[in-house]
Amino acid sequence: MLCRLLCLCLCPDPQVDLRDRHALVDIFSSHRFEAVIHFAGLKAVGESVHKPLLYYDNNLVGTITLLEVMAANGCKKLVFSSSATVYGWPKEVPCTEEFPLCATNPYGRTKLVIEDICRDVHRSDPDWKIILLRYFNPVGAHPSGYIGEDPCGVPNNLMPYVQQVAVGRLPHLTVYGTDYSTKDGTGVRDYIHVVDLADGHIAALRKLYEDSDKIGCEVYNLGTGKGTSVLEMVAAFEKASGKKIPLVFAGRRPGDAEIVYAATAKAEKELKWKAKYGIEEMCRDLWNWASKNPYGYAGSRDNSK
Ligand code: UD1
Repeated sequence: MLCRLLCLCLCPDPQVDLRDRHALVDIFSSHRFEAVIHFAGLKAVGESVHKPLLYYDNNLVGTITLLEVMAANGCKKLVFSSSATVYGWPKEVPCTEEFPLCATNPYGRTKLVIEDICRDVHRSDPDWKIILLRYFNPVGAHPSGYIGEDPCGVPNNLMPYVQQVAVGRLPHLTVYGTDYSTKDGTGVRDYIHVVDLADGHIAALRKLYEDSDKIGCEVYNLGTGKGTSVLEMVAAFEKASGKKIPLVFAGRRPGDAEIVYAATAKAEKELKWKAKYGIEEMCRDLWNWASKNPYGYAGSRDNSK
C-alpha cells in the first residue's frame, strides 16, 4: 500500500503537471490511490513576487485540480506541504499552530489559500481527512549522499548557498542583517533535517489511517523547537566540512522575520513524531551530499548560465 501511496511523489514515471487534468485523470484511472502527499508547489519567494500569476496558477490551480480528481476517484486522504511562512513575522516564539496567519508575498499567499481551501473542502464533505504540515527550514540531505537539494540557478535559501560557497561555486555568503535582537544580531530560524521532515510525513499518513474517525483538517508544525542564528549555522557547517565560508555582511533582506521557531508539542502528542537530528547532523549530511555532488544531479552545471 505504501508503494501506491507514495507513487505520485516518488516514481519518475509517470510524471505529470498537476494542472494537466487529463493526465491526472489517466493516472487515477490506472491506479487506486489510498492517499496523496502533495509536495508539488513552487517555493521561491522572490520569484513569486516577480511572477505572481505563475505561483497562483501552479500552486492553486494545481491543488484544486488534484483535489477534484481525487474526489472523483474516492481518494479523500491528503497530506499537504504548507510552510512556516504563514506565521509571517510572529509577535512571539515559539509559533503554535493557533497563531494568527498572514502572507507577505504571493508564495506565502498560495500556502494560506490552499490551507483555507482544504478546510473548506473538509467542511463541505467530512469524508475528507487532511493534514497540513507547516515546514520550518528544511536542511541537509539523505545520509547516503545520493539524494540532496539541487537548486536551479543561484540559491535563495541559506544552506544551499553555503553549500555552493563550500564547493567553490560561489565566492562568499552574504549575511542579511546583523542588527536583529538576537544572540549575535543575525536572523534565527528553526532548521530541521530533511530526514526528520520525511518521517513527519509518514507519521501524518499513519495518523490519517489510525485516527481516521477523529481527523478532519488538522495542521501541525514540523520543526525542532530550537532557534539557530545564521552565524551559528555557518559555524556548524564549517566544523562539519572543514571549509572556511567567507562572509560579507549586508543589510536585512526585505520581508525577513527576526526569529521564527516552532512549538512542537502538538506534533509530538498527536502525530507521535519528534525531530531526532540537530544542526550537526544536518551539516554533516549536507556536506556529504555536496562534496560527492558539487554540481548536483547534472554533475557539471554552471551557475553562470
Ligand atoms: C524562506 C522563505 C520562506 C520559505 C522558505 C523555504 C523568505 C523571506 N522566506 O524562509 O517563505 O518558506 O524559505 O525554505 O525568503 N540568509 C542569509 N543569506 C542568504 C540566505 C539567507 O543571511 O544568502 C539568512 C536569512 O536572512 C534568514 C536565514 O538566513 O535569516 C534563513 O533564510 P532562508 O534559508 O532563505 O529561509 P527563510 O527566510 O526562513
